[in-house]
Amino acid sequence: MRILFLAHSFNSLTQRLYTELTRCGHTLSVEFDINDTVTEEAVHLFHPHVIVAPYLRRAIPESVWRNYLCLIVHPGIIGDRGPSALDWAIRNRETEWGVTVLQAEAEMDAGPVWATALFSMREAKKSSLYRNEVTEAAVIAVQAALEKIPDYQKGRWQPASAASTGARDQWRPLMKQADRRIDWLHDSTAEIMARLNSSDGYPGMSDTLFGEPCHLYNARPYPAQGKPGELINRMAEGIIRATCDGAIWIGHAKRQQDDLNIKLPVARLFSQALELPEAGEDSPDIRYEETGQTGYLHFDFYNGAMSTQACRRLLAAYRAAQQRPVRVIVLMGGQDFFSNGIDLNLIEAAASPADESWQNIQAMDDLCQAIIETDRQLVIAALQGNAGAGGVFLALAADQVWMRAGVILSPHYKNMGNLYGSEYWTYTLPRRAGPQAAVSIMKSRLPLGHQEATGLGLADACFGNNLATFVARVRQQAEALASADTYPEQLAAKRQKRISDETAKPLARYREEELSRMQVNFYGFDPSYHVARQHFVKKKLHSRTPVYLASHRALRWTVPQD
Ligand code: COA
Repeated sequence: MRILFLAHSFNSLTQRLYTELTRCGHTLSVEFDINDTVTEEAVHLFHPHVIVAPYLRRAIPESVWRNYLCLIVHPGIIGDRGPSALDWAIRNRETEWGVTVLQAEAEMDAGPVWATALFSMREAKKSSLYRNEVTEAAVIAVQAALEKIPDYQKGRWQPASAASTGARDQWRPLMKQADRRIDWLHDSTAEIMARLNSSDGYPGMSDTLFGEPCHLYNARPYPAQGKPGELINRMAEGIIRATCDGAIWIGHAKRQQDDLNIKLPVARLFSQALELPEAGEDSPDIRYEETGQTGYLHFDFYNGAMSTQACRRLLAAYRAAQQRPVRVIVLMGGQDFFSNGIDLNLIEAAASPADESWQNIQAMDDLCQAIIETDRQLVIAALQGNAGAGGVFLALAADQVWMRAGVILSPHYKNMGNLYGSEYWTYTLPRRAGPQAAVSIMKSRLPLGHQEATGLGLADACFGNNLATFVARVRQQAEALASADTYPEQLAAKRQKRISDETAKPLARYREEELSRMQVNFYGFDPSYHVARQHFVKKKLHSRTPVYLASHRALRWTVPQD
């Protein structure tokens, strides 16, 4: 089938559906929901059999839904309606939630139901639920809906109205900041976390810090006590605030009255945070644990963004893990992202974004180098969540890459203003995928699903379609590897390969060549990288859909007649 995706942006859910449906043999094209005329034009050019809207912020024009089958992916159960579905589900502490595929009609989320899929709720940020449970359920529901199209067209099946399924019609309005507000003096930690989680990543929780209005993000419960509402400690670049029954660590904030208007670590936004007493040496985002001869290094950086400091802290933790008597080190990343490369928000906020980009990429390269040069352990990258740009190549620095089924890789840099990229990708990518495939992966700019990633050699194994089963199997396999009879041979073969690779071309030369190109990106005459970064961090709206996504706008495209 020809399927047109109509979406506000090519977000994680859209990327995932794109990879799944392409793999199923459908022909896909994407149009961003810019205005009605653009949508009408896309429909005219692509002549789709069905339009799927995985992530929309505006209604589909009537001229389109009256003439074409339009399926909307709604992150709610049957009968639920409104623009803040997931926000309310978290706030109301629903234990089970779902995704429903509805046919577009005049009234929002009120069209006939094509398919639905349920999932158990988890205590997590809205963005985390969206990237994991909602995405998995959406894949199931969209595929189920598409399978019904032939019968629908032949008049053998009709979608039912929500009411006829016995579901209660439940319109929930847009959740406003007034609905989200926290009472630090009286609300419990659990209540405050539910409010913060239901607002993270967008729009954030409106509150005040150090007497200034701001939005809060990246919060976790923290075991401490204090006077409710009081800022009691600083930990890494976040602050710890007491509630009436515990405390919460808050990592990021956005100032409302700020030219930058981007999310940054609290201590970068408010220098007063540096005056708070430090709560020990711990990092809330880096954690090491060991089972037998296997070490697990967790790094859960907000949005997968790895600043200069984050890379240095992680390198120190990695070096410490290397000194432990373990045979295998597993890089666990975070639940939502393995890594998305250098921290573009902090770069944007720096006095010299070019200098900060340079420092950040050096720190990232130092980390990748340490992983590649590890000769006393086997290193596994276990991707629980998606990885983008340099974050993919951080994973490829390991000896083996294991992916959770459903994880998406964006192994290219070009979308960030034609950035050349580093992280030793010119060494690791051709070594895994072959030189020709390496060039086309970098050029295509498209996301890769786990099947493509394994097929191309970017990943060695893929299993477990939810976080719990993936992590359980990672542990089982990593520990089996550490105790395998073949372990000494595997380690010896790895050392030998590194020596011969080094003789053929020293690692330092790869770095030098990559960084000479990055230097031009950062300091050269062409400002593309700086412009693209600014657009990305400031979330500038798209003015057009790039042709690598909108295939109906490519020169070679001819309007289909069927
Ligand atoms: N630095 C800072 N923030 C980043 C980031 C980075 N490298 N990568 C992603 N983010 C943030 C986004 O701004 C967004 O923030 P929000 O919580 O305010 O919405 C959040 O992470 C999620 O990103 P989003 O783009 O919405 O996720 P996605 O799943 O739709 O797309 C990527 C994933 C990786 C394709 C996309 O985030 C991306 O292109 N990131 C930049 C990668 C990059 O170029 N890194 C630098 C070169 S190494």
